Amino acid sequence: MHIFHKIEELKNHFSTVSKEETVGMVPTMGALHSGHISLVKKALNENNYVIVSIFVNPTQFNNAEDLEKYPQTLQEDITLLKEASDKIIVFAPSASEIYNSNIKSDSYNFGGLEKVMEGEFRDGHFDGVGTIVEKLLNIGKPDNAYFGEKDYQQLQIIKKLVDIKKIPVNIIGCPIVREESGLAMSSRNERLSAELRNEAAFIYKTLKEAKIKFGTKSALEVSKWVTAQFDKNKLLDLEYFTITNADNLQTIKRKSKNKKYRAFIAVYANDIRLIDNIALN
Ligand code: PAJ
Repeated sequence: MHIFHKIEELKNHFSTVSKEETVGMVPTMGALHSGHISLVKKALNENNYVIVSIFVNPTQFNNAEDLEKYPQTLQEDITLLKEASDKIIVFAPSASEIYNSNIKSDSYNFGGLEKVMEGEFRDGHFDGVGTIVEKLLNIGKPDNAYFGEKDYQQLQIIKKLVDIKKIPVNIIGCPIVREESGLAMSSRNERLSAELRNEAAFIYKTLKEAKIKFGTKSALEVSKWVTAQFDKNKLLDLEYFTITNADNLQTIKRKSKNKKYRAFIAVYANDIRLIDNIALN
């Protein structure tokens, strides 16, 4: 397995790839779990080469403590990736390699996608995501890049990013991988106590029930019902629940035929923020 920490090393490695061969890229912040590995496996199936980047990107954290506590487990990550395939190319740069001494985001207009939900509650988050993903795609020059629907808003924003910046890459969305309890896998789950990890299964359970209710009730009624469920829950605090058009991510007022809808949720378990989402039709 190749592990590169420098941009030049990665670029040199690919200088001899022929035009018929394809490169897949899976950007991550490490602390890898089966959700990440599902993206890696899809990329391995669909490409000749796969780059997995591991970089905890400082510019996308709006909260210094969240950045400080973000798990960093490079050796374990490498072991897990080796098990998936020793053909994987790991790119694990330092912050100075990526940003020099200027650790700052560019600013983007993603046509309103960046203003709602995660964008509303995590100021500057998507400028940070846009900045790092644009840099990584320009460094790795993949044909295909893989992102999880776990971060569905991020996936939509990255599709918009490559469109605006005319980056020649296919953005491929991958389904959410869940723990047995239904809790969406996340690097942040590792920070949950056993009690909270158990309780956090309530998030997906509520999403599934909300989906059923959406069959007969309005978006507003479903939202009120979800809020009431979390009001009764002593261990989890609801930050937002919203039902949106699945493409433009704007909260819907009323349903119409032929449109795709999705529900999104953010919840705090102590100081640990968990997000999830579900297709409603
Ligand atoms: P990270 O949270 O490490 O996630 C890396 C990729 O794995 C993202 O595309 C994310 O959606 C996907 N992923 C995480 N958990 C998943 C799950 N349970 N099921 C399916 N996919 C899952 O997202 C980021 O990093 C960063 O914002 C990044 C894009 C790397 C930019 O810094």
